[in-house]
Amino acid sequence: MDYNNIIKNCEESSYLISMTPVEKIVEAGYYMGLNNQSKVLDLCCGYGEMLKIWCEAFSISGKGVDICTEFINKGNERISQNGLNNKISLVVENVKEYHDNEKYDVACLSGEDLFGGLKGTIRFLESFIKEDGKILIGTPYFHNKETPKELIKFQGELNTLEEIYDISKECGYLITHIAGCTQNEWERYVTWSARRDLKWLKNNPNHIDYQKKQEWIDYWYKMYFNYRKDYEGWALFVLEKI
Ligand SMILES: C[S@@+](CC[C@H](N)C(=O)[O-])C[C@H]1O[C@@H](n2cnc3c(N)ncnc32)[C@H](O)[C@@H]1O
Repeated sequence: MDYNNIIKNCEESSYLISMTPVEKIVEAGYYMGLNNQSKVLDLCCGYGEMLKIWCEAFSISGKGVDICTEFINKGNERISQNGLNNKISLVVENVKEYHDNEKYDVACLSGEDLFGGLKGTIRFLESFIKEDGKILIGTPYFHNKETPKELIKFQGELNTLEEIYDISKECGYLITHIAGCTQNEWERYVTWSARRDLKWLKNNPNHIDYQKKQEWIDYWYKMYFNYRKDYEGWALFVLEKI
């Protein structure tokens, strides 16, 4: 068994804040036809790990935008360490106010709803793509319409897969690839958050919000065990103009 590869995968996954596994990100790049001529814009890029992976796999060039300075600084450090800073740049900016004169082959937004739903996200992303460009959206969804009210209270209303398909078509796009995740990525994500909360508890034993944080951890885990595990999914959706 290639233990080093497993360890490298864990390391890369820890810089992906959403749930698509590394191999599915590479697969999505393959199905989008990424190559060394491709220019990719990733809005709400986190650490820019998706761009880094596509740069290593397909030699793309790209730009990532995120509001969090800590993520961008760490991401740029990793990009520089891997000798990719002539191909990838990450900048701190509010995506809602972001303008760009360049047009991209792919515009992505994964893990954040900043434009009032899927239609708004599609409309925003399409302003950055070339005529034959593609859009990639990462979003959670509900497995069916009969979602328990406890989950809606926690997560808000989400689209079902059918609704994602219908809204994309209304906007003039067809879903041409879906990169979903397995229970393994859910478990990685849920426990990642718990490890972060535990660290906070250890560092702040006398904090006024200590009890609240403990209650949140219970709520977080029980929402996953009792509801999210069965009723919620996550995927990257590639959309192409019809
Ligand atoms: C769930 S994370 C996903 C990160 C990344 N797409 C990934 O898959 O690893 C959502 C990201 O959106 C960023 N974000 C939230 N609101 C933003 C805004 N208004 N402008 C730019 N970035 C924003 C957060 O800082 C965070 O990095």
